[in-house]
This record gives sequence, C-alpha cells and structure tokens, in this order.
Amino acid sequence: DATVTVSPAQLGFVATPKSLADIVAVPTGYTVTVLYRLGDPILSGAGAYANDGSDTMFSRRAGDHHDGMSYFGLAASGNAPDPTNSSRGVLAMNHENITQAYLHVGGSTAPGGIRPEAEALKEMECHGVSVVEVSRSGSAWSYSPASSLNRRVTPLTQMRFSGPVRGDAALKTVFSTDGTSGRGTINNCANGTMPWNTYLTAEENWAGYFKRETGDVATRGGASAKANVSLARYGISENRPGNYGWATVVPADTASTIYARWNVTARAAQPADGTGDFRNEAFQFGWIVEIDPFDAASTPRKRTALGRMNHEGCQIGRTVAGVRPAFYMGDDATNEYIYKFVSTAAWSAADATATDRLAIGDKYLDAGTLYVAKFNADGSGQWLPLVFGTGPLTAGNPAYAFSSQADVLINARLAGDALGATRMDRPEWTAVNPVTGEMYCTLTNNSSRLATNTDAANPRAYADPKSTGGETKGNANGHIIRLRESGDTSEATSFAWDIYAFGAGSDLDPTNINLSGLDATNDFSSPDGLWFGLPSNISGQSTPILWIETDDGAFTDQTNCMLLAAIPGAVNDGATRTVTNTRDGASGTQATRVGKAPGTTLKRFLVGPKECEITGIHSTPDGKSLFVNIQHPGEGGNAASISSNWPANQSGGSATGSRPRSATIVITRDDGGIVGL
Ligand code: FEO
Ligand code: CA
Ligand code: CA
Ligand code: CA
Repeated sequence: DATVTVSPAQLGFVATPKSLADIVAVPTGYTVTVLYRLGDPILSGAGAYANDGSDTMFSRRAGDHHDGMSYFGLAASGNAPDPTNSSRGVLAMNHENITQAYLHVGGSTAPGGIRPEAEALKEMECHGVSVVEVSRSGSAWSYSPASSLNRRVTPLTQMRFSGPVRGDAALKTVFSTDGTSGRGTINNCANGTMPWNTYLTAEENWAGYFKRETGDVATRGGASAKANVSLARYGISENRPGNYGWATVVPADTASTIYARWNVTARAAQPADGTGDFRNEAFQFGWIVEIDPFDAASTPRKRTALGRMNHEGCQIGRTVAGVRPAFYMGDDATNEYIYKFVSTAAWSAADATATDRLAIGDKYLDAGTLYVAKFNADGSGQWLPLVFGTGPLTAGNPAYAFSSQADVLINARLAGDALGATRMDRPEWTAVNPVTGEMYCTLTNNSSRLATNTDAANPRAYADPKSTGGETKGNANGHIIRLRESGDTSEATSFAWDIYAFGAGSDLDPTNINLSGLDATNDFSSPDGLWFGLPSNISGQSTPILWIETDDGAFTDQTNCMLLAAIPGAVNDGATRTVTNTRDGASGTQATRVGKAPGTTLKRFLVGPKECEITGIHSTPDGKSLFVNIQHPGEGGNAASISSNWPANQSGGSATGSRPRSATIVITRDDGGIVGL
C-alpha cells in the first residue's frame, strides 16, 4: 500500500458552538449568502415568489427540500463546461420531498378524501431536480433567472431507461408499452458528480408515494408470487394510502394518468387502454438517474445496471487511466447494504472532455458488475457480485427465483440477501478520499439494531439517554465506516475496513457510546451528507477536508443539525476494542475496529436553523465558495403556527410571519481564502 503522510490539523477556524437558534451560524470571518430558495423563479412565466401558499408553476421555480448538489464550472461565456471556472457555473441539485404544510394557502390539506388537482400538481412539481446557472461578481454570488441552462426535472419529466433492465417486462407501462421510457424521478436524495460533467441523482424513498389497495396480493397471485415478494422486500405493503394521496385526484382532463399512476394496485384484467392499471409503476423508481446539466433539452437516463434500491447517492472513486472505475452507493433503510458498481470499460481521460456526455455515461454506467459488501469481524471484507446464474442468483434460490440479470438488478436487495451481505445501520452518503482512495460511508442510525444482533461493522445498540420524547434506541447516533480497496484499486473484490468516527454527545459514556472521544467542539449525531473537498483545493496539505453533515433526531434537544469539517487520518490503524451494549433489558458485547479518534482534526463548522437538515454540499474548484443546502427549516410547524422564519431572517431584521423555505447558501471567507483551512 502507498504510504500517505498525514498533515497536522490545519482547520483554521474556531469551532461553532452547538445552537438552537433559528439562523445559519458559521465561524467568525465567514459570510453566508442565501442563493436559491424554494419558489425562486428560474424559467419565464413564473413571477416573484409570494411565499403565502398562492404560488403556482413550480415546474418553473425552485422545488422544495434541497438535497444533494453538484457545481459544474462553465466557460466564461456560452454553455460549454470549464471545470476550472470558480466564478460561473451550473448548480444541479435535488428536491427530495416537500413540507406540505407551507405549500398551500390554508396550510396542509387534511389527509383522506380527494386531493384538489392543483395542490397535487404543485406537490409533484416541487419534487425532482433543479439545474440553475450561478455566477460570482466580486464576492457576491447570485443565480441567473433567465439562463438557457436553467431546468426543472420533475416526476412528470420524460426519462429513458438504459442498461440491462431496459425493455424488461417490469418496465412496461401505459406510458411505455415497450419498457424503454418512463415518467419522472422522485425523492431524489444525494447525488454524484461525474468527471465527464454529468450529474447523478438518486431515487431514495420512492416507495412511500405509492398507494396499494387491500386485495392486491391476491390479484397478483398470492404472497409467494414473485411480484409480491419483490414489492414486500421494497416496503410496498398492501393497504397503504401513498404519501400525499395523489392517486385520489379526479383530473379535469379525464384522459390524464399522472395522478392515477401513483396507485399500483393490479386490476384483475389489465384494461386494453391501460387506464386504471398501473401495477408496474413501482418498478419505474429506485434507480440512479443521469442528467446532462449542460443541455436543458436532454432526456435523463435511468442507469439500471446500478441496481434498484433506496438509492441514497452515487459517488465515483478515483479514476486511473486503463483501470475500470468504481461507483459507491448506499441503500438507505434500516439493515440494508452498501454496493459498488464497477464499469466494464476502463477509464480513458479523454472522456472527461467529450461533448456527448450522456454517451460517455452509456459507456461507464450501462455495462459492468454490481457488487454488495460483506464486512468480516477481522477487518477484511468482500465485494460479492450480483451476477445472474452465479452462486445463489439462479431460479433455484429458495427465497426468490431469479430469472435474468434484469431480475437481479430490479431485486438487488433480494440478491444481497441471498449472497449474505452485511446488514448496515442505514447507509447514506459515500465519499472517496481523492488522495488515498479510501471510501467513507455514513451509517446514520438504526433504531432496529439490538444489543443481541450487533456485528463488528455495526457494533452499537443502546438507549440514548440524551434524547427527549422517548428514548432513541439502537444505534441512536450513527457512525462513519471507511474501507480501503485491496491493492488500492477500484477493481478490487476485497477490502480492509475500520470505523472512522462514532456519533455521540460528548457527555455520553466514553467506554461504550462516545467511542471516538468527541468533545463540545465536535460532538454530533446521525451523520448523513459526506463529501471530500476537491483535489485542487487541498492546497499544500496531504489530505483534503472531509465535510460531514447531520440529519438528526436524537441530538436536537441540544442543537440544530450541523456541518463539520475533518482532516481524517489516512491510515487504517487496525485498532480493536470491545463495546458493551445494553438495550431493552438485553445486553451483549461486540468487538469492533475503531480508527484513530478524530480529536482536534474534527470541528463543527456550521449550525443550521430550527428543524432543518444540513445536506447537499459542493464547492467551486478553487475551494473558496462552499455551497450547502438547508433542507426543511421549520418542518414541524405549519401556516398557522410557523416554527422558523429562515431564510428571511438570515440577514437580521424582523421576518415574523415569513414561511420558512429550503434554500441553497454559499459560504465564503471574508479574506477570500479556501473555506475551512
Ligand atoms: Fe434522503 Fe437517506 O436521506
Ligand atoms: Ca440523506
Ligand atoms: Ca437522513
Ligand atoms: Ca430530510
């Protein structure tokens, strides 16, 4: 293995204290600019945002719940990429979900009954992706409301299926009778930034949007029928209403199926015209989707070779000429798996400047091998291939009879089960250290982890004594695991792993809970967003900054969610220790592998406003402008009882009565330096 020298800590800011204030707090010497808020107009026809529930035309405005985000540099003029430009670019970002209570005049519509069409359409259009041009003039950033690059991708945008599942029977719908195209993307969580200048968006909690009526299991052939086994494994149970009740809409255009499609109930006989039977809609989602942010007219491609799951995000590892690249992915649900995809094609640096960017995506993302991770107690691990016809992935598998590679990819979770992959504490973002190649993954928390079913990679199960309103149990505070590929190559099928840091309150039991020795300057809970600064802004130190964002429910009595900066140790030191877990009257001990405690190399950089999650992070290539997303401030309130006035209050002054809005912020250093150093 290459020896990497770790620099001494060089985080040149004073840690931001924990805070319950309704504002984004950053260290002295830094400035926060609010850049792009829910409802901001980006296409013609959408006027200024009233922010009182009366606004419409969200396919022409910023959506809600800003999440994963990438900055792509633009040439000084025109629409071509220039990855070196730190003053003009496009931001591509996800709009994961909505805070329904603030989107309508009277606040949230009561559940049940028939949803008004205009409200349902607004809610759909608030989901998806934004592509928006941004630029810096002096030190001030703004977005360009009239740019020809601006775009909204929503649950109604036409998509093209790509890869091994394209054309499969499971993708045949009313909209695409040959299973090659689809409608929209939803619950887009984290992202991926491809070196050929495209954006990956990950479909995470898509299953929740679907209604499924009682009796559907029988219509589909009973509990053991393949479709029912598959739907159950992805959490689409019978007798569920579906988020927001979109399927209840009675549209003015009676031929429209954009609402009815959210009900996947199979009818006894599929009507010839397709109306009323949308049984395959659930297979439209759960994919990684590639978008060309430099061509607003391009059709996004769903990359089915990367498998179907609750995709949190997808980050590419280091690229080396002549070596097949790897793409790392978490499936965010309790006890789900970590995956990687390795392309069939070896990396060619010339592809980074190709102009047909989605064709380059075809090259690297449509053919290759999907693997799932198994973590062993001795600190080793294996990547197990999800290849039809190998191992248990055959028609003879007792739990689910696989019939093709498409079937394996559609049911990646069932394939992971059959292969004996390790059930993790909710895998969220992945990030790859550009210096060492080590892959880090946040394991945000796991309420179902028991003292009696821990393993070395998921070693904690306890009742968090700090949480209020009922103790948070299991792995209440989450941790960050990291792995190093054998031979430091993305093509490896084995790896070494350790745990980088455990979340915990600094006053919690240092022997069994606060294992990383966190103190008041860096204690955190429920890590989620994760991103390494770019190689070009390492600036003289041998390891880049690792940014860690939180999405927490166990620590919010102490502080709002936060962004931390770390200079992580580069070497897996192989240390081990034993934890004693106690939960629900049961206890157990678990040996684990703890990396060096972060100590002063981990500091809290930012604390967000009330009831938000900190998510989405990227920077300009010079590292001097850091983009961060503030998701769902005030989500616990509603129009009659507003619980946050952010971002209207960010610059001071009274903002009483202003509804909160998810928004992108830019953080700059007042002396013009690299953020974090
Ligand atoms: Fe959308 Fe797992 O966070
Ligand atoms: Ca997340
Ligand atoms: Ca989360
Ligand atoms: Ca969230």
